[in-house]
Formats: sequence, C-alpha cells, structure tokens
Amino acid sequence: MVDFKKIELFDENGRSRGYYDISNQINDLTGKEWIFSTKSVIPKSFPSSFQHKLRNKHGGQKPPELCEMIIRTFTKEGAIVLDPFCGVGGTLLGCHLSQRKGIGIEINKNWVEIYKRVCQLENIRPEKMINGDSKRILQQMLKKDKSQVDLVLTDVPYWKMDEVEKSKGRYKKVGKPAGDIFSEKSKLSRFNHEKSGSETEKEEWEALMEDVFNKCYDLLKPGCYCAVFIGNMYHGGHYYLLNADIVQILSKIGFVLKGEIIWYDVSKNLHLYGINYSWIPSLVHQFIMIFRKEREKKLTREEIEEIREYNLERVEKISKEQLKKGIDRFI
Ligand SMILES: C[S@@+](CC[C@H](N)C(=O)[O-])C[C@H]1O[C@@H](n2cnc3c(N)ncnc32)[C@H](O)[C@@H]1O
Repeated sequence: MVDFKKIELFDENGRSRGYYDISNQINDLTGKEWIFSTKSVIPKSFPSSFQHKLRNKHGGQKPPELCEMIIRTFTKEGAIVLDPFCGVGGTLLGCHLSQRKGIGIEINKNWVEIYKRVCQLENIRPEKMINGDSKRILQQMLKKDKSQVDLVLTDVPYWKMDEVEKSKGRYKKVGKPAGDIFSEKSKLSRFNHEKSGSETEKEEWEALMEDVFNKCYDLLKPGCYCAVFIGNMYHGGHYYLLNADIVQILSKIGFVLKGEIIWYDVSKNLHLYGINYSWIPSLVHQFIMIFRKEREKKLTREEIEEIREYNLERVEKISKEQLKKGIDRFI
C-alpha cells in the first residue's frame, strides 16, 4: 500500500511543475497543469514547425503542439492514440512530442507520403500510418481486438472537402455560386451545394461519421476520451452548427459529451465577405469537442491500487532523474 499521495515534479530547467497526485487515473499532469488544461478557450497560434510549408499543402492540418496539449490532457505516457482521419499527421506528430504511440488512417496517399517525408526531414521515427479507408481499416482492427486504444483524437473531413479544388487569394461573393474556388484563409465556401449535389452530400458525411465513430467507440477502452476537431460553417446565407451535428451523431453511438474547447487562432486573418450588405462571421476559431466512453462499472479497489502503483513507479523514475540534479522534494 502506497502511503503518500503527492510528488513535486520539475521541468528540465528545474522549475516546479506543481504536485503530481499518484491516484491520477487520467494523465501525467500535476494539479497546476490539470487546472490549466480545463480552460475552455485556447487563444493561441502555434509555431510553423515540423516542415509546416510541406504540411500546408493539405490546408486542413492541425498544429502538432496543439495536438500534444490534447494528448497530454487525456492520456498517460505510452498510451495508444488513434486518428481515423489523419491527414498529414498533426495527431501523430503530437504523439511524437508527448511520447505516445500513434495510429493514423488516411485515405489520400499524397497526405500519407507527406507525413512520411516530414518524419524523414525531421529525423523522427514515424508513427503507424495506414493508407486506406477508415471504415475498412477500423473493421480489420476490431477483428483483432476491441478496447485497444486510449484516446481517439481526430479532425473530421468536411463534405467532399478533398475534392474541391483550392485557390489561394480568390474570394466568393455571398449569394453568388462558388464555382470551384474557396479561400485557404476561411472555410466560408467549402460547402459547395451547387457543385457537389446538395443534401445527399451531408447525408453521406453523416453516414461516414456514424460508421467511423461507431468503430472508434468499440476500439476505445472504457473510461477513455474521444476529442474531435470541428469548425462550424457558413454557406449560402446559412450558418451550420456542425459541432451540434457531431454531438448528435456521437451521442447516439453512446459517447457522453463532456465539454468543448475553443481553439482561437489569434494569427488568422479576418475576411471581407459581405461587407456593407450582410454580416458574415470571420471564423477564427474551431471547436475541440470532448467525449468519453463511460465505464460500465466503477473501478475496483484493486484496480485503483494498481493505478497508484503504476503512477508511483513512473514518477519515482522521474524523481530519480531529478535527484541526480539535486532537486527532489517528496511531501
Ligand atoms: C480535416 S483533415 C485532417 C487533417 C489532420 N488533422 C492534419 O493535421 O493533417 C481530414 C482528413 O480525412 C481524410 N479522409 C476522408 N475520408 C476518409 C476515410 N473514409 N478514411 C480515411 N481518411 C479519410 C481526408 O483525406 C482528410 O485528409
């Protein structure tokens, strides 16, 4: 039986990170870091790191450092993180930064190649990246094992987004057809009903979300989290709450909504749509919707003790390293 509860941890510069509670079931954060992680708005732009120019060919890539923050909040070191819509690997690079194991699935071969190239150029070991349709790959994973993943972190595709041709610096006027263009600076006209065949497109998208998240649910261990990046949309004079759609779809599957984090990208430019005749928002934020697969029953005393033993072993290792630096302090 472990007879003390908290251990002070330090960063590599010897500054206190606060106290780590060894009964922590969720992550490796100290109390101070945990409180910070509950902030519902992240008003931050992130560095152009990890071959940003190359990854920017995708256009929807997420900052690895932001993914790292989410991963550190919802998992412990060594955890397995699944991203079924992996793009050029923001989640996988986040896994590299946080010493977790990533499994990414991406349907478009070009994005897989870019991720591999980024790893090569950065001299880092690539996480497992599978080229294919998530619907099929997740089914194969399920055949091997259920409940094998500690976190699902993903950034869902939009309706036919990958098939819409990109054009930088050209803008659609409200009420006029978008043709084949949309701006990289705003998601304002990515939903192109005129081109892609109206409502069935959204139904297809919903069916894909339902299918993929159903399988993710079965792959996720009970008590673990699922974090979904999603931005809302303005199209044809209407504003679409896609985060509400995602909540509806995932709730039907059994996920429980726990909250939302808003990522406000302070570096994003404002746009000029509708000026003087129609108010249209400049979307400089995205949502990270947080869901959990609840446990069917509470943890037993033995399981709780096992977690404490595991945590203690891990932080003792960290503390030994700190001892070498002469900065160990147990309470
Ligand atoms: C919003 S992007 C993800 C970007 C990613 N977060 C990054 O940092 O690069 C969504 C990705 O899902 C992929 N996708 C769409 N349908 C898919 C499917 N059925 N299976 C696997 N990937 C799919 C798209 O090709 C697209 O790259």
